[in-house]
Amino acid sequence: MDTSKIDAIIERNNSDETAILAILQDIQGVFNYLPREAMEYVAKKMEVPFSRIAALATFFSSFALEERGKHIVTVCMGTACHVRGAPRVLEEIERELDIKNGETTEDKNFTIETVNCVGACALGPLVIVNGDYHGNISTSGVADMINQYKPDAQA
Ligand code: FES
Repeated sequence: MDTSKIDAIIERNNSDETAILAILQDIQGVFNYLPREAMEYVAKKMEVPFSRIAALATFFSSFALEERGKHIVTVCMGTACHVRGAPRVLEEIERELDIKNGETTEDKNFTIETVNCVGACALGPLVIVNGDYHGNISTSGVADMINQYKPDAQA
């Protein structure tokens, strides 16, 4: 693990114990999840018990403790999106990527997640990929949407 990035994050936060949450968030921003090794490193470097770091990481649901893909495909399953076909869109994404909701592709390129309403109901059914909103998505539009994020498309 490249600890220089973690060192820089800790330094940026002035090694301040009260900033542990911000430090963990920044680390997740770098690795796309919160590796246990990184949490252990932070604990050692900041002389904070590992149990404290782990408790924070498990308390806040925004932290992902399992490795995730480079692209996070988030399908909104809130009521408005649900009635507009979100379950069928989710099924199509699962079929397209050959993984189930919550899983990551073998090449670590995609992870599928679901969320309950992000407050953009008029766009339903809505899929968010790395923060890009794909509104009013239909099952027939799923393949094109996914292809935009495949490595070949980004070369
Ligand atoms: S239900 Fe999907 S954005 Fe509100």
